[in-house]
Amino acid sequence: MTRFRTLDDLDVAGKRVLVRSDLNVPVRDGRVTDTARIDRTAATLIELADRRARVVVLSHFGRPEGKRVPEMSLRPIAESLSAALGGRPVAFAEDCVGAAAARVVAGLGDGGIALLENLRFHAGEERNDPDFARRLAELGDLYVNDAFSAAHRAHASTEALARLLPAAAGRMMQAELEHLENVLQTPARPLAALIGGAKISTKLDLLGNLVGRTDLLVVGGAMANTFLAARGVEIGRSLSEDDLVGTARAILERAGREGCDVVLPTDVVVAAKLAAGVDTSVVAIDAVPPDRMILDIGPATVADVIGRLAGCRTVVWNGPLGAFEVAPFDAGTTAVALAVARLTRAGRLTSVAGGGDTVAALAQAGVVGALTYVSAAGGAFLEWLEGKELPGVAALAAAAA
Ligand code: 3PG
Ligand code: MG
Repeated sequence: MTRFRTLDDLDVAGKRVLVRSDLNVPVRDGRVTDTARIDRTAATLIELADRRARVVVLSHFGRPEGKRVPEMSLRPIAESLSAALGGRPVAFAEDCVGAAAARVVAGLGDGGIALLENLRFHAGEERNDPDFARRLAELGDLYVNDAFSAAHRAHASTEALARLLPAAAGRMMQAELEHLENVLQTPARPLAALIGGAKISTKLDLLGNLVGRTDLLVVGGAMANTFLAARGVEIGRSLSEDDLVGTARAILERAGREGCDVVLPTDVVVAAKLAAGVDTSVVAIDAVPPDRMILDIGPATVADVIGRLAGCRTVVWNGPLGAFEVAPFDAGTTAVALAVARLTRAGRLTSVAGGGDTVAALAQAGVVGALTYVSAAGGAFLEWLEGKELPGVAALAAAAA
């Protein structure tokens, strides 16, 4: 287990606490479309404020690449943050370092909360620049990292800063680390992974790591097609990555050696193209017509996967099992999601999921709240599944050593 300090280890009353949150939330037409990251870091901010800290929130937003881009200002997010904090006021500073930031921080009373402007308006942030980190550190007495979803970035606010001030994990970071470690480091077995999505090219490291750790690996989504091709199955006009068929074969061979059972679809839903309202049919995997494409796992596969999950104690899920954005190709993913939710509620399965598409698919199935834990991270969740050390987590561990 990674050892790190938490809020329990900090004496925060009267102190200026720099909290690195991830307020990089999706916004459409000026409205935040998913407030999960804001709502979950709010618990950390409320606890600190109630313990009389002077809370200074740091975050990035978008990828402005070191320049001031007005559309990527965090100012509108201050309002959403205030709402998530039950209406507590959130002061806003036009810059995250220098005089403007210092003035707002100096104006905070005990229990007050301020949000500073987008860290990535300064090139020093993404460069993990020590001088930029020092300018941030001047604004605080303590540092709390609550941004697991940005922990795969070695940036000034996630890495260098943790080495300049007494550092601890916030409650959201703590929850992410505890649940994720519980699944891969100390799982109740059998341990299953459900892995889907379009491309195996983006998930080779992840598959390589999971094959060595899991008892059961279910592969769905278009990436299953490349594995099917590796097993010599005719996949018609389905998406696949022909240059990776050899790699897929090597992963299957390694799974065999490691005692990991790989489940690929035995029946599939096919159509002429990915579009709403097209004619679909269910075919056995050895009967995919040459002019059709595979767009979802079929009902026999769904039943098989659910039956196997019922025999597992832990599951980790990343990636939809079909083209879930377009009905009816969401059916396989939804059926499996409902089963995972049911087994979890019954106390028979510990279930952890993460990644943008995965969470969207779980939300569509209405089961986000029914899993043991749903990570708010995208890239960081993937890198963690790959077994990589995340710089933001490593810096917290170093601070606790
Ligand atoms: C995310 O949304 O995945 C995190 O906020 C990290 O953002 P980034 O991919 O721009 O570093
Ligand atoms: Mg990202």
